[in-house]
Amino acid sequence: MTGPLGKDLLGLESLSGEQIRLILDTAEPFKEISERAIKKVPTLRGSTIVNLFFEASTRTRVSFEFAQKRLSADAVNVAASGSSVSKGETLVDTARNLEAMRIDMVVIRHGASGAARFLAERIESNVINAGDGTHEHPTQALLDMLTLRDHFKRLAGLRICICGDVLHSRVARSNMWGLQKMGAEVAVCGPRSLLPNAIDEMGVTVFRHIEDAIQWADALNILRLQLERMQGGYIPSLREYNRVFGVSSERLNRAPKDLLILHPGPMNRGVEIDSDVADGPHSVILNQVTNGVAVRMAVLYLLSGGKPELAEAAKGGGGR
Ligand code: CP
Repeated sequence: MTGPLGKDLLGLESLSGEQIRLILDTAEPFKEISERAIKKVPTLRGSTIVNLFFEASTRTRVSFEFAQKRLSADAVNVAASGSSVSKGETLVDTARNLEAMRIDMVVIRHGASGAARFLAERIESNVINAGDGTHEHPTQALLDMLTLRDHFKRLAGLRICICGDVLHSRVARSNMWGLQKMGAEVAVCGPRSLLPNAIDEMGVTVFRHIEDAIQWADALNILRLQLERMQGGYIPSLREYNRVFGVSSERLNRAPKDLLILHPGPMNRGVEIDSDVADGPHSVILNQVTNGVAVRMAVLYLLSGGKPELAEAAKGGGGR
């Protein structure tokens, strides 16, 4: 079934600003469901969704599962270990076998950039990209944008600096595409070795010094140093990285205004972000996690053919 987003959600590069706004607006009424004593509406009753997580995840996997359960979809989780993928079955064969059991949607996290699109072009079910290699992580960027919009009441004109390991970050790419489509100004800051070669073609400002980024920005989205994707040689040492690029309260105190602090998680405390910043008064890191459930409910609802104007009614179980 297709809705206003098309068949799949593979990334924000291919969405329009209008489609991004639609997802954020649709997420608004869904926030309230998670605050109820009984966190469940029958909106997606009868839908069957498979969560294929071939890479580690806490936030995204659990958040999708909560979103599915709160909308009353039937959800099944498949991990690489313990499935026939560990015996050499291909991604497409796995998905086609699951489709033979009459599923409606696949949520996929995979270590290979492009895996979500590869799958979407080969199966009939809706596909949602939950992070593919270093390519895109669209629902993370959407929940980041919802969190920014909650605080600033707008995205247009905001100055957001994405700090740290941009090279390995699918979150950075989705945020760069998404925020610019919503009219925000985007910058990056990090060592040259952790910025993509094509950074100058991405429409963003590049800061070499974190102090300059802090002077410029309204909000910092601080990225995890992805040590598991580094073969060595990117940075001299973690201590050196923290000394030069780490976001500390000492540095933030020199800013001309209070900066909103975001981090997609998981955090390397004491490396890219100090604990007093992560847990400080301007951190919205846990608000991001809370908003993730509403954003994923909105994406599931819209991809399953839900009508945006009926999202409010969907809270009571109608709206498709
Ligand atoms: N932000 C994020 O993708 O976290 P997980 O890897 O825990 O899902």
